[in-house]
Amino acid sequence: MKVGFVGWRGMVGSVLMGRMLEENDFAGIEPVFFTTSNVGGTAPDVGVEAPALKDAYSIDELKQLDAIISCQGGDYTGEVFGKLRAAGWQGYWIDAASSLRMDKDALIVLDPVNDNVIRDGLAKGIKNYIGGNCTVSLMLMGLGGLFRENLVEWTSAMTYQAASGAGAQNMRELITQMGQIRDSVATELADPASAILDIDRKVVEAMRSDLTVDRFGAPLAGSLLPYIDKQLENFQSKEEWKGGVETNKILGTSDSPIPIDGICVRIGAMRCHSQALTIKLKKDVPLADVESLIANANSWVKVIPNDRDATLEELTPTKVTGTLSVPVGRLRKMAMGPEYLSAFTVGDQLLWGAAEPLRRMLRILRE
Ligand code: HSE
Repeated sequence: MKVGFVGWRGMVGSVLMGRMLEENDFAGIEPVFFTTSNVGGTAPDVGVEAPALKDAYSIDELKQLDAIISCQGGDYTGEVFGKLRAAGWQGYWIDAASSLRMDKDALIVLDPVNDNVIRDGLAKGIKNYIGGNCTVSLMLMGLGGLFRENLVEWTSAMTYQAASGAGAQNMRELITQMGQIRDSVATELADPASAILDIDRKVVEAMRSDLTVDRFGAPLAGSLLPYIDKQLENFQSKEEWKGGVETNKILGTSDSPIPIDGICVRIGAMRCHSQALTIKLKKDVPLADVESLIANANSWVKVIPNDRDATLEELTPTKVTGTLSVPVGRLRKMAMGPEYLSAFTVGDQLLWGAAEPLRRMLRILRE
């Protein structure tokens, strides 16, 4: 199988390369690496032969491939995908960008949750397999067991999304802002006798006027941003809209969609998205059954006991970052009634939220 890689040097692409090396995924494929800036350059060392870097805009070169994985972004997909299909290319297009997600001839891939939908699509000849929005994929990796049993009447997801979801430069800006805040009161912090309200006043002044905000457009460090992505006419943000439509597309329930809605918020975490969920169950399921359905849904989800120490130990972005683990905790029936379940889940936005489903789709194609 000849597999083209586009955007492999960016943040999601680099995570994908790292995971493919860890899982020995390059053995048995012929990788071809593409570039938008360095045609003829040396391909990365992935343990198997690969030709010199090829032009990512060359339809003739792309046409030679059995499958293409793009982490190059939506603009690239918009520029190349239509031309490639118009040129008669019949290969598999696997993409991290959102542009094609809701197309009727594309599926959203998250095989631990929708393996059946993917295999059905392959049997029907679908050729476009797109990674889901990160919050959606992470929510379903955590709560997939309840959806699989058709127990969810609706869900409200309040998110706490990391800087990485906005891009690599945004991660740098977050750290820069943190440093700028600290630097604004370095002298006072060093003096144990300094007054806390003086420190607070100086910090607020720095946050309101001195922070670097080129990427986020507002201070994030020491604060939060309760709006992610574009504004839609119905007053949802585009990120919130994706929560509903993509979840139902992944589950194959778009014809009779489960309502999913909430508020998406950017916080000062690096690469782990967290979500506080209110789930309305279709019936009163005992909590022990809820826990075992969640825990047994896939190999990566982990139920964290709803006690304080375990929660602070296991259920934080700091603990989860860089791992494939998707802990789910704070599970309890809420004051509204026995059908109302609360849950909190955390997951690495670059792994299950982006690179991992694409890597696994390539594996499925090779079966
Ligand atoms: N849109 C997401 C975010 C990331 O901004 O956090 C990718 O799905």
